[in-house]
This record gives sequence, structure tokens and C-alpha cells, in this order.
Amino acid sequence: MVSRGILAIDQGTTSTRSVVYDAETLLPLAASQKEIRQYFPQDGWVEHDPEEIWRTVAETVQEAVRQAGVEPQKLVGIGITNQRETVVVWERATGRVVHRAIVWQDRRTTGYCQQHASAQPFITAKTGLFLDPYFSATKIRWLLDHVDYVRSAAESSQLAAGTIDTFLLWRLTGGQVHGTDVTNAARTLLFDIHALQWDHDLLRFFGIPAALLPQVQPSVSDFGVTRGLDFLPDGIPIRGIAGDQQAALYGQGCFTAGESKCTYGTGAFYLLHTGQKAVTSHHKLLTTVAAMCDATPKYALEGAVFIAGAAVQWLRDGLRLFSKAAEIEQLAAASREEEPVICVPGFVGLGAPHWEPAARGAILGLTRATTAADLARAVLEGVALQVVDLVEAAVKDWSGTPQAALAPLSVDGGMARNTWFLQRQADLLGRPVVQAAQIEATAHGAAFLAAVGAGLTDETALRQHLHVTARFEPKWTPQQRRHKRHVWRRAVDAVLTFARSAGDES
Ligand code: G3P
Repeated sequence: MVSRGILAIDQGTTSTRSVVYDAETLLPLAASQKEIRQYFPQDGWVEHDPEEIWRTVAETVQEAVRQAGVEPQKLVGIGITNQRETVVVWERATGRVVHRAIVWQDRRTTGYCQQHASAQPFITAKTGLFLDPYFSATKIRWLLDHVDYVRSAAESSQLAAGTIDTFLLWRLTGGQVHGTDVTNAARTLLFDIHALQWDHDLLRFFGIPAALLPQVQPSVSDFGVTRGLDFLPDGIPIRGIAGDQQAALYGQGCFTAGESKCTYGTGAFYLLHTGQKAVTSHHKLLTTVAAMCDATPKYALEGAVFIAGAAVQWLRDGLRLFSKAAEIEQLAAASREEEPVICVPGFVGLGAPHWEPAARGAILGLTRATTAADLARAVLEGVALQVVDLVEAAVKDWSGTPQAALAPLSVDGGMARNTWFLQRQADLLGRPVVQAAQIEATAHGAAFLAAVGAGLTDETALRQHLHVTARFEPKWTPQQRRHKRHVWRRAVDAVLTFARSAGDES
């Protein structure tokens, strides 16, 4: 019987997961997961119901704690990790939300961002981000401008705003705490990542009252204690908070400069830890704050592949090449390497280093002999090749030379179960790829942060809790790699040319 537990709440874009860990071994004891509904009120708009999010948190926490067999009073800490950038606004007096959450994928503020494009250098210098609808600020601005009474109520301090962690913290503490952590604040466009504080110039620029914003703390902090809940006792401390990609970075044990991870979910997110240095990218990567255990600043470079697992879903549900996602592994392995097909799975645009939202996907090099297996292989390679581009860009930004010795790439998330894919990722990257035993590194990271906060461990000791299932050494020759990347670059160029010429016509 486990005596003490840590609870991690992982509130993601498509589902909420709660996981209870043994506080001694930091191994998971039980997990519960519930999907959340996606609302698409207009083309390009994506919303979530915050009440449903809260309900799924309550239900999954209750279920995970019950299954783990840990007495709820014996939970020594809670860690929260969350989909980033998504915003919620609610009334301080009643807790009532004023509108559905506007999700990070929502593009409703594209026009606003285009109109203010000249402010880009000023915004990037302070935040490490771009003026893009992805981030929180323009979503809050939209709520101020479009929802009745929100602006006046915000100006008279009646409302609170925040990312999902902030909303959950407020609810878990019975409305006592309006707080967030540095990693989430760093995704809002309102936070100066160098001074590590809300920035008055940015608040003025976006017309957002400071009274709306939560207090920012390091990712390991005393965030408050549970209060007035029917699924947890009062007094359990919330000790760790981080946005999901930074939590995965932490959960993979990437605590210092040069360590990097890639999480393959619906999309894939690559983060390279850069230590105490906020590195400015010359390749359209984001500069972001990594999880901080104390006041010492920590930074990372970040790049995203927008479509990763979603490309596998497309082969399964769109093209019906197989019925279970796991089957792609065998299928791709059956492909003949000499078949020249290449796929750029840029279905919703390409991220860094191109950052071209108008791009779409392409399959090139089809022959009469092309089979489903070749297509599966090309799609998986298309994801892996985008990750190679991100790694190369990050390493150039960080050290000025792509040859710099980097630690192996740690991988997690659903696609990291596919060993054919991981071998190919290593071959294309020319570096070892390390498959984490904890494929759910996001929740693991939140548990690690809470464990550090509870004084149970520190970063040196945490390394003992990192387990690797497999290590994939690159087997390709440099020449094979060069050839494939050359073909890939030509395919990407074709996609970019096509996207831009379509723009010319309209
Ligand atoms: O920036 C968006 C990211 O945090 C969402 O992650 O895993 O919830 O799709 P996920």
C-alpha cells in the first residue's frame, strides 16, 4: 500500500488526464482520462467550455485517486500542466465564466495581427514570440471588445483572466488564488521574458487592464491549497505548474542547456533548453521560458510541427489505409526504400523555419509502383524531416554551428511508441533518439515539479527517476542523409512556391 501520493492534472487540448504517482518512486499508480468537446462556432474559431473542463478535472481526479488506492489526505502535492495560450475570463465574485475559452488554435484575431504587424520587432524583443493569433493577448482583447460589459467590469477589477492553469488554480483553491507560473505567462504576449514580469508597454499596446492578470510565480512555488471541493479534502498544496510543453521538457529531465525533447502529439513540439540564456532565433523559432524551480531564469528555444499524429489519423480515417494507428509501424516498415515518394504533411501551414500559414500538404514522386506502405513511410518521414529542420535551426541559433555536440533527442507522446518511426528519426537526424519509459512526459513533468515543491527531491535526484525504454542510434551514412534532405528541401520549396502563387492569383 502506497502511503503518499502526488497528483498531476494534465489539461490538454483534446482531453483531461489525472495521474496519481507514488511520492517515493515517482512512478504512476493510476490514471484517468476524459475527452473534452471542441466547439467550432465559425471557420477558424475554436472554443472549449470551461465548465466542462472543470467537470473533467473533478471526475478524472476522483477516479485516479480511487484507483491508485492512496488516501486523498495523503496527497502531498498537486502539479498542474495545461494546453498553453488558451484563455478564460470569469467573475471574481461568482466564479462565473463570461465566455467559452478561446483556444490556442483559434484564428479569429488574424486581422488584428495583420493590422498591427509593424509592432512585431517591439513585441518579439520583449516576449520572444510573434504577433500571431496563437498567443493569448489578442484573444483577451477580442473578449474585451466583443463581449457585453467585459471591458467596464475588467477596468473596475471585477473580472479575472488567465490561461487554463490559472482557471484551475482559482477553482481548486475555492477562488482564493489568482496565479500562474512563468512558463504560461511567457505565452501570453504580455510578459517580458527577460524581466520576468507583466510588461506595462505591452498591456497598453493591447489595451488590456493589468487588473485582469494573475500573479506570476516560478513553476515550483506554493501556489495555494485546495479548498471547498467535493472531490478532494481541504489543505492539499498545489506546488507545481507549467505549460504542457515545458512540463514535458522537465519530465524528460531536460534541466540544462543543450538538452532537448520532442513531444509527438496531434502536432509535435521540439524544445531545446538554453540554460539561463534567452536565445534570439534567426530561424523563426520562439524564445520561451523553461520551468523554473526558483527565481533563476531558465529558457528554451521552441519549434512546432503542426501536423504529426494528425497525419497518421488522416491516413487511418481519411484514406482508410489501416484501422488502428499502431498498424502504421508495420506498414511503413514494408515500404521499398527505392520508391521515391516524399510527403510534406503541411495540412495547416508550415511552422519554423518557414512560418508559412498559407502552405498546404503535398505528395511528390508518385509512380505506378507506389503502395500504401510507401505512402505511410513518406508521411512518417515528412514529420521526422520537419523535426530535423527544427533541430538544425535551434542548434544554429543556440551555438552558431549545427555541428555543436548536443545530447541525444529525448522523445515522448503517442508517436514515440512507434519504433520504426524513432529509428527513422535518428537516421534522418544523425543523432541518437532516446525513447522515454514515461511516454506521458507532460504529466510526469508536472509530478516532478510538485515533488520538488514538496521537498521530496531535487533535479540531481530526479535524474534517477528517468528511465529509458530504448535508444536508437543513427544508421544511415551522411550521404544517405544528405540525399534525403536534399529531396525534402525541394519538396518544401515546391509547397512554398505553390502557396505563394495561390496568394498572387487571389
Ligand atoms: O501551445 C499549444 C500546446 O500547449 C497544446 O498542446 O498537447 O494540448 O495539444 P496539446
